[in-house]
Amino acid sequence: MTKLLGILAIIAASVALSSPARVLCYFASWTVYRPSDGQFNVSLIDPNLCTHILYAFVGLNENGTVWVMDDWEATGLGEISHLMSLKQQNPELKVLLSMGGWNEGSEKYSKVAADPEKRAVLVQSALGYVKEHGFDGFDFDWEYPGQRGGDPDIDPANYVTILGELKSALNAEGLILSAAVTGGVASMDISYPDIAAVSDNLDMINVMAYDYHGSFENFVGHYAPLSPSHLDVTEEQQQLNVMAGLRHWLDQGADPTKVNLGVGTYGRTFTLADASNAELYAPVNGGGKPGPYTGLDGTLGYNEICLFNSDWDYIWDEEQQVPHLLSGDQWIGYDDTKSLELKVEYAMNSYVEGVMVWSLDTDDFLGACGQGKYPLLTAINNRLRAN
Ligand SMILES: *[C@@H]1O[C@H](CO)[C@@H](O)[C@H](O)[C@H]1NC(C)=O
Ligand SMILES: *[C@@H]1O[C@H](CO)[C@@H](O)[C@H](O)[C@H]1NC(C)=O
Repeated sequence: MTKLLGILAIIAASVALSSPARVLCYFASWTVYRPSDGQFNVSLIDPNLCTHILYAFVGLNENGTVWVMDDWEATGLGEISHLMSLKQQNPELKVLLSMGGWNEGSEKYSKVAADPEKRAVLVQSALGYVKEHGFDGFDFDWEYPGQRGGDPDIDPANYVTILGELKSALNAEGLILSAAVTGGVASMDISYPDIAAVSDNLDMINVMAYDYHGSFENFVGHYAPLSPSHLDVTEEQQQLNVMAGLRHWLDQGADPTKVNLGVGTYGRTFTLADASNAELYAPVNGGGKPGPYTGLDGTLGYNEICLFNSDWDYIWDEEQQVPHLLSGDQWIGYDDTKSLELKVEYAMNSYVEGVMVWSLDTDDFLGACGQGKYPLLTAINNRLRAN
């Protein structure tokens, strides 16, 4: 009997060890409209580099129903059915429908979450769309409860309520619920004062541990430093990094087995006010120059950054454990394979079982920079599987 228990214990242990870590990949569907080599679509996805793909985004109507923002791209062009067909190449793959995101704002979400009837409409509408198209679950990205036009007094509790209602309805059908949540400590304290309750009402928690700094501020800062710098002096400054954000989620009671650490395949850029001062907190004149594919001041995809040639200086920040590039007055903070491996390692040392990646379309999916296709996603997978 003792012997048998011993064998069972060994089997249980090896099952736990071999359970594959999660890699959640966001598919930003509008990238099908990007020009030239920046154009992305489902046929360019490698379904063996992700355990979950999240279709981003559908929106929310004021009456609580799912708003399909671009039905031509979703169903006319067939992006959703193409995503589902990736399961033929990877039968374990899960595909989730993601609602919300930054551009949706917070106001509508606040109103729907406060109204029991509209919440019921949202639950039924989301479940209906998920089932109709064969999704494996739903991802709720309200950015953020109690902020950006939401109501800080009532949103946090209503958020937990709507998560609970979504989760029961989905789980009853064998479907899962995840949510993208902020990775900033001060922001968390406003939106999720009861982190244990948020954790209880989700199957997966995708911590957006990025956008700590960017050209929405008037000084230089890395978008996703792993750890603080000696130049961070106030408590708030010292908390704007991956370690502080992830630690806060876990310390406040999030279940680490549900957490996925969010990382970026992009960079945030600045135009320095004075090219001779490129230090952290140096004054800037807005974002850096736009890239040929993403076309926005202040951000670049890794697939744009990795094309830059050797007249850029590569600087590895030992304290913050992230790289930046510098040329004249242009400053680019981003993640490369080295910084991403360190982040994955930090997540695993924190007993976190997954990584979330925003987003597929700005990794070097064509392999144009000579590191093979998807160098960032490949590095994340390799590091996760090395343990
Ligand atoms: C998807 O991308 C591939 C490779 O660039 C291209 O051949 C194909 O036409 C694209 N499909 C759509 C629907 O845009
Ligand atoms: C909800 O609002 C949308 C957009 O205004 C509308 O198309 C839809 O018919 C409404 N649904 C219900 C059930 O009222």
